[in-house]
Amino acid sequence: MVPSVLALLVLACASTAQLPPSDWQRTIIFIHKETSPSQYVFLRGGLDHSRRPDCVHNATVDPCSIPIWHIWTTRYGKYNAWRQGDNFLDWYGPEWGQGMVESINFPPQGTPMMWTTDASGWCDPNDMACYYQGRLTMNDPDYFNAERAGFGYTPRNKWGEHYWMLDVLMDCSRTWEGWFNVKAYLTPEREWEPDIWQRDSCTSCRYMPPPSSRNHMARCGVTNVFQWGKPFPCEIFPNHPDPALPDNY
Ligand SMILES: *[C@@H]1O[C@H](CO)[C@@H](O)[C@H](O)[C@H]1NC(C)=O
Repeated sequence: MVPSVLALLVLACASTAQLPPSDWQRTIIFIHKETSPSQYVFLRGGLDHSRRPDCVHNATVDPCSIPIWHIWTTRYGKYNAWRQGDNFLDWYGPEWGQGMVESINFPPQGTPMMWTTDASGWCDPNDMACYYQGRLTMNDPDYFNAERAGFGYTPRNKWGEHYWMLDVLMDCSRTWEGWFNVKAYLTPEREWEPDIWQRDSCTSCRYMPPPSSRNHMARCGVTNVFQWGKPFPCEIFPNHPDPALPDNY
């Protein structure tokens, strides 16, 4: 029958593909960078070009870019616009077709992160509902959390304000034995995070990083906590279960 022949053909083609099977795992990155409300931190990264001479400056086809899926759909317009069409962690800034924010006169400069704090009662100063109605009166106590609003409190943050967060599914099969490089990028200044020299293991980390890198070395499938422009302190640990993946995942 025609459909089963087609199915066989598809299977045969898939089994001859060069890429390893994909391995999607939830990967969380925090970078601490003190910012003002008009500043936004994006993430860039992937594999180091010095390790792979075949990298090309086009995220869609670049073997040094790592496929990602943003987990959260948020109320906050900027994060939510910039996450659209952001399909890779890469080194090159805006992706082809990545969402724009009308009030901001530059395209997204990489993978958007969310501003977070560890203060559980935190309200956005412009959010009257949060201030006057209060978090506790809501039927849904997570309504004002960063994962739902786009910035703010997250139970994952144990350290303080200005911990910019990325929470995505990542194709770990595209990393370097589970490792990949990251560097933050500050806007509107268009300022790369300075080089750091990560030569040693992070705190409570049972993984030995590869020898020196000028970027933070992050681990796929777990939580990574870094400081802007500094190799230490840094921490790598298994993901806390809370907040769990939303229902549509
Ligand atoms: C990147 O590569 C894809 C696939 O070959 C192509 O469709 C796209 O136009 C390229 N993008 C740019 C900006 O060159």
